[in-house]
Amino acid sequence: MQSHTYSATASFVSAPSGDPYKYQVGFGNRFASEAIPGTLPQGQNHPQKNKYGLYMEGMTGSPFVAPRPQNLHAFLYRIRPSLDHKKFIRLPDSPDMESNFLPINPKVHISPTQLKWAPPPFPSSSDEVDFIAGLKTIGGNGEPTAREGLALHIYLANADMKNKAFCNSDGDMLVVPQQGRLDVQTEFGRMMVRPGELMVIQKGMKFTVSLPDGPSRGYVQEIFGSHFELPDLGPIGGHGMANPRDFEVPLASFEIDEMHWEVFYKIGGQLFSAAQDHTPFDVVAWQGNYVPYKYAMEKFIFVGSVSKDHIDPSVFTVLTAKSKATGIPLVEVLTVSERWNVASDTFRPPYYHRNNATEILCFISGERGGRYVPGGIALQTVFCPHGPSPEVHKAAIVEELKPERISKGSMAIAIETPMILSMTDYAMNRAGTVVESEPLSFPPDFIAHLDEINADLKAAGYEELKKKSD
Ligand SMILES: *[C@@H]1O[C@H](CO)[C@@H](O)[C@H](O)[C@H]1NC(C)=O
Ligand SMILES: [Fe+2]
Repeated sequence: MQSHTYSATASFVSAPSGDPYKYQVGFGNRFASEAIPGTLPQGQNHPQKNKYGLYMEGMTGSPFVAPRPQNLHAFLYRIRPSLDHKKFIRLPDSPDMESNFLPINPKVHISPTQLKWAPPPFPSSSDEVDFIAGLKTIGGNGEPTAREGLALHIYLANADMKNKAFCNSDGDMLVVPQQGRLDVQTEFGRMMVRPGELMVIQKGMKFTVSLPDGPSRGYVQEIFGSHFELPDLGPIGGHGMANPRDFEVPLASFEIDEMHWEVFYKIGGQLFSAAQDHTPFDVVAWQGNYVPYKYAMEKFIFVGSVSKDHIDPSVFTVLTAKSKATGIPLVEVLTVSERWNVASDTFRPPYYHRNNATEILCFISGERGGRYVPGGIALQTVFCPHGPSPEVHKAAIVEELKPERISKGSMAIAIETPMILSMTDYAMNRAGTVVESEPLSFPPDFIAHLDEINADLKAAGYEELKKKSD
């Protein structure tokens, strides 16, 4: 089994340490890359004949007539077209993967409260579970054929995909490893993705994953509708939060192999496979703006209050995706890590809230006071009341406020969606430990102040307050 990788070299590239690959940088650019000089046609996309007999294949990520800023495409010049494959075979449903989150599906459940999961265990070393076989769905909204909705999965893998590739026609996948790097080969080239980085593979792009560090666990946010975008910056101006130049896009890289490969497809929540006698990763040159990419979250530039009060957590947004309703996101992916808190005269912990949002925290590293563990998940469903414990509240209203490093040495991603999520059987029964929040009771300090309040009311000429009793 001999195979060789031929990669492009380019001048405008980043080469982060610990990552053997080079990248082009930018977000939403029209990128171009060729692994053999001169293989990308100049001045046109479809010459009568391509150099070295390459086949031309186009790919769109938006309707042809989408306005320019949303118009997404790629042109690939490859050894064989993707069309060269054997018959599609329908595969049985994966027991732990779910795509239909409508409440009429008996396999999904609504939970009214806060939920917390311990890190789900890795498969035992006697089972070989690759990235795709190890995908398990926690919850989601909608379903993929209506092209609106999302799914949150975790993956637990201990084996390389070898000669298997995956192609998701249902949704873009934002992947965040929590343990172990992912060595990802795509039609556009290769990416090494480590914990602390996120990667996006958009709909219809083939990829395969190997595990250079052994077992890997992480989170996958799949969106069925739109694509991820950078949030608008409004009054922040032209820079800050996730800067476009910090996104990394692979360089063309191809192999010549005529081995047996299987490509797995997910379409409308159903799984199919098709065999082929050659690698799907045979693209010699490509150009376009519909591409896979990655981003190292420690590059995020935090924006926050430098006087008093909290700024809404939307300032932590790395990527956002639009819903079909104007002005309403389908989902926003936030990064939460070490930063300064300098707000004075401010209740510094999160204030008590009930939001038009399902909020999900996925923990990548760090301890966070022992309450959360890397690999775990915490979820607050829409309008579910939450906030600090009575003890934290008591301490926070008297603490001396100094500039403080917070979330020290830790990193999490937060997923915020204004959609109602239903949870899977896997999440509620098989993921290991799921715990509902413990009931809390808070001292009503206001009532202890009744005499003082009544004296003030009386002095101001108002009627006194009386406690009701039965
Ligand atoms: C949140 O607000 C938007 C806009 O008002 C609305 O479309 C959406 O349904 C709301 N979400 C929830 C969970 O109520
Ligand atoms: Fe919250």
